[in-house]
Amino acid sequence: MKISIREKIFLAFVIFIGLSALIWARSYYSQYILNQKIQIIERKYDLLNTILEARRYEKNYFLSFDKENIVQALDYARQAEDILRNILTKYSKYTLAKNLDQRINEVVTYKESLVALLKLQEEGYLVVPPDTIELIRKQGKILTSELEKIVKKESQFVQDLIGKSKTIHLLALVPVFILSVLVALFLVFNVNRPLKTIENAITKIASGDFNNIPEIKTGDEFESLVVSLNNMIDELNKRSKQLIQAQKLASLGRLTSGVAHELNNPLNNISTSIQILIEEIEEDDLEYKKELLVGAEKEVERGKEIVRSLLEFARERTLTLKQVNFKDLVDSAIKHVKSEIPDNIHLKVEVPDNIQATVGLRIKSVIINLITNAVHAMKDGGDITIKAMNEFDRKGFSFQVIDTGEGIPQNVITKIFDPFFTTKEVGKGSGLGLSITYGIMEQHRGNISVSSEVGKGTTFTCFLPFRQSEQIEL
Ligand SMILES: Nc1ncnc2c1ncn2[C@@H]1O[C@H](COP(=O)(O)OP(=O)(O)OP(=O)(O)O)[C@@H](O)[C@H]1O
Ligand SMILES: [Mg+2]
Repeated sequence: MKISIREKIFLAFVIFIGLSALIWARSYYSQYILNQKIQIIERKYDLLNTILEARRYEKNYFLSFDKENIVQALDYARQAEDILRNILTKYSKYTLAKNLDQRINEVVTYKESLVALLKLQEEGYLVVPPDTIELIRKQGKILTSELEKIVKKESQFVQDLIGKSKTIHLLALVPVFILSVLVALFLVFNVNRPLKTIENAITKIASGDFNNIPEIKTGDEFESLVVSLNNMIDELNKRSKQLIQAQKLASLGRLTSGVAHELNNPLNNISTSIQILIEEIEEDDLEYKKELLVGAEKEVERGKEIVRSLLEFARERTLTLKQVNFKDLVDSAIKHVKSEIPDNIHLKVEVPDNIQATVGLRIKSVIINLITNAVHAMKDGGDITIKAMNEFDRKGFSFQVIDTGEGIPQNVITKIFDPFFTTKEVGKGSGLGLSITYGIMEQHRGNISVSSEVGKGTTFTCFLPFRQSEQIEL
């Protein structure tokens, strides 16, 4: 049966309220009974006291034979009868003394004996027969002892009830406690855990891992949420594949037209030189012919350079990883370009020697490309600074190549990583340097970014993980 989280929480809530209502009702009932009992005890104490008063006057009479004592005793006996009848009508349900009728009979008999005694007195009998005295005393005694027993019994019952109520209250806390623990466990297992799974999955998606989330079989809102998320991931994957395909086609087009354009110029020049040579083959002007041939060779060199760059662009599809000290890699790259750095450019290296990483040696080409570009951007000289630092929390390190050159205008900065994009004059740059650099950084699961201000300089910032997770294909 599928129960939604809302229904589960509602159910727990109803059980909780039901249990609380039961405990409350039980405690209200105990309170009510207790109240009744206390009233009964008060009434019975009154009764006992009234009987004791009657008996006191009865005893006084037998000492003094004063008629007034009998009148008083009789009065108290009547009051006792009234109290007893009142208890019987009002509290019969709650009293423990079930044979109160018997007690009424006893009071009535006692009262009648007193009436008979008063009659004797009024008729002028001065001596009361001893058996009458004995009878009245006996009746009084029975009555008081019975009433004392009843009062004692009721008091005991009240004490027991108070003790029982305490225990019941304590015991009632047990199911409440168990239910609270169950509700807490329910929230942990049914709400917190699936939420954590979904949170982890979303973090993965945010970091670019578009794998489907494992299904949760909870039968509630979480299950449908995971299904919806997986649909969304599938759709994202489909869209990103379409996008990659479109980008591939676009860059293939750019690459083809770039190659065609770049190779067309030197080929045209070579063709023109050859045509002139063919036409003027008979002429004696050797100097001119040599000039044409040297020109054609230069164009061939340019063509070869373009082809070399293209090969570099497409080369080394698999990374060959090596454990290196990054400072050594930087030093080796600097050695490579040292001869191309004019005297008016000052190179500063701020790279600590504690950066150890496992990277492909093509990272050296990245540093060379960035330094070369910086040199080309500083026709009037300036500073190039190479900085690097460990970033342990990101499990990698970053490095920067900073120059004080001409900077990159805003409308150009978005294109610098495109293949064949160059601002250099024809024959000076192929425009492949940064696109190769970008590819190498991607291949290492790293990244490269640029910030620049025209007239002030440019900073290229790169990040590389310490280790490559697998052999990566470009
Ligand atoms: N440090 C820099 N300062 C200013 N502009 C830069 C800098 N680095 C790159 N650029 C701009 O980006 C363009 C593309 O650079 P990229 O390295 O890809 O090609 P390139 O240097 O022109 O040619 P090559 O293929 O010979 O490297 C450059 O032509 C230049 O306009
Ligand atoms: Mg370059």
